[in-house]
Amino acid sequence: MSRNRKNYDLDKVALNQKNLSGALKIFRYIRPHLGYFIAGMVLLVVGSLVFMVLMGIPGEMANVASGTPRFELDLTIQDFGKIMLILLVIQGVFSYFRTVFFTTVSERGMADLRKDLYNTIMTQSITFFEQRRVGELTSRITADVEQLQSAFSVTLAEFLRQLVILISGIAIIAFWTPKLSLIMLLTFPIIVVSAMFFGRYIRKLSKKRQDELAKTNTVVEETLQSFQVVKSFANEWYESVRYGKAVDRIVKISLEFAKVRGLFFSFIITVLFGGIFYILYQGALMVENDTMEVGDLFSFIIYTGILGGAIASFGTLYATLASAVGATERVQNILDSEGEINLKDSKEGNNISLAGDIVYKNVQFSYPTRKEMEILKGVDLKIAEGQKIALVGQSGSGKSTIVSLLMKFYPLDGGEITINGTSIQDYNITHLRQNIGIVPQEVILFGGTIKENILYGNPNATEEELIEAAKKSNSFEFIESFPDGFETIVGERGIKLSGGQRQRIAIARAILKDPRILLLDEATSSLDAESERLVQEALDALMEGRTSIIIAHRLATIRDVDQIYVLEDGEIVENGTHAQLMDVQGGAYRSLAQLQFS
Ligand SMILES: Nc1ncnc2c1ncn2[C@@H]1O[C@H](COP(=O)(O)OP(=O)(O)OP(=O)(O)O)[C@@H](O)[C@H]1O
Ligand SMILES: [Mg+2]
Repeated sequence: MSRNRKNYDLDKVALNQKNLSGALKIFRYIRPHLGYFIAGMVLLVVGSLVFMVLMGIPGEMANVASGTPRFELDLTIQDFGKIMLILLVIQGVFSYFRTVFFTTVSERGMADLRKDLYNTIMTQSITFFEQRRVGELTSRITADVEQLQSAFSVTLAEFLRQLVILISGIAIIAFWTPKLSLIMLLTFPIIVVSAMFFGRYIRKLSKKRQDELAKTNTVVEETLQSFQVVKSFANEWYESVRYGKAVDRIVKISLEFAKVRGLFFSFIITVLFGGIFYILYQGALMVENDTMEVGDLFSFIIYTGILGGAIASFGTLYATLASAVGATERVQNILDSEGEINLKDSKEGNNISLAGDIVYKNVQFSYPTRKEMEILKGVDLKIAEGQKIALVGQSGSGKSTIVSLLMKFYPLDGGEITINGTSIQDYNITHLRQNIGIVPQEVILFGGTIKENILYGNPNATEEELIEAAKKSNSFEFIESFPDGFETIVGERGIKLSGGQRQRIAIARAILKDPRILLLDEATSSLDAESERLVQEALDALMEGRTSIIIAHRLATIRDVDQIYVLEDGEIVENGTHAQLMDVQGGAYRSLAQLQFS
């Protein structure tokens, strides 16, 4: 278990030209809904301006009431009341449509993005998955897209709204109350800048706390996922202490954080409000010596409040936008990765059976994630159409690897594999895999029902075919013995079935798939002698007429194959029929067999 799993979440990023231009690419998901987006933007700008006008009315009403109107409009207080009501209604209607429009754009756009992301991920090669963790990919498609969604539906709009408010607000007060505005402009920036510095420090601490929290979550996640391991090693106490320590660290950091935050709040309250009161005091003096109307002071206070709110919101909005840009970058990274499969091509599929001779010519291979370790060192194999061959050899000698290369799971480093004389390189990957059935060494099932898992071999199979496959794989009996029969839920990854049961489900799946080429990787390894005999019969029937590669540790199961290849450390050291190999004095196969049969 890794003790320091990476925290995939939402690190804050600084905005720069590079990631911004990358982020703009994501707008292509907005483009199909551009009409809504622009309409939303227009409503937003006009709505914000209406809002600003509305906020000026109370002050002007006060001016009218005290007999010194600023504008020669000849309006009564009642008129102002009506205007306010109308503007309020307009404002409300605008808000409604703006919200609906932006949500439409963001929901539709992000749904497209999600589908694209999922498709891109699904079409990647096995190596792509080996290099990443499930959690990482999941958080791209959930958390990151969620962030973009809220950026497009709320944050961008809010940012623009506050910008309109800020600019128009400053223009209004500079025009109406220039003197007071000047005083404000001289004092406020200092306060704002120092608050920003403080805020940055607080964010740093808050990030530290989040990281620690992520670490504790890792402990929880890992232990819950591997609870059997914890239990079987009786390590509950160890994990409990580990978790306890992690939680205590959070408390320590949180308390430190609380002190700084406390300081920040008292700073804001004293200095910020001090500043506001100072300006009000100046304003009151101006009213007293008649250089300003009461209504104007009133308006000034309202606008200053709104401006303050706008400025304050920029900090959070900026942070949210920056982390949305980070999310875009990560999402874009995945979208840019070239997959091994073109979904559109593969959908066409095709029904031509891929039969014929399989030839491995001097195949050299090392896993892309462990390049320096050579796994296959020039392997030669030949399987004629309809033949069965077996691979035997110690654990780790490369048997499963040989088999997975036929499925084009990884690129070769040297040599060639051909089917029917054509390199597998030239076969359509989907077509190739559709014609190969595999019963893997480690059977992993989907969490649904037994039926769903068997049907995965051929979703179009009929009920009869399903039952026949179950019978042929010798799984019908145990399936029927469950109260829910075929509808039995197998649990995550098939955990509620025994190893042998899982294996038989995998065989049933392969039977339904009805492939031309069959790969059996220790398909009977977790069965008792009796079941093994039954499954072996099923497999023999399944292999009839199909080209098969069998990997087996128990040599008894492969006596009758056409050719046996003995693998040692990535090299074929012997090959021949059972009888031939048994005749080789001191041969690898013979000594293996003597060990097993004696
Ligand atoms: N996905 C992988 N990435 C990197 N290395 C791998 C991967 N899978 C297997 N290996 C390495 O390749 C070598 C051969 O593994 P392989 O699974 O082919 O052995 P095997 O002969 O099937 O063994 P066993 O009988 O235990 O199943 C091993 O050293 C293994 O560590
Ligand atoms: Mg293996």
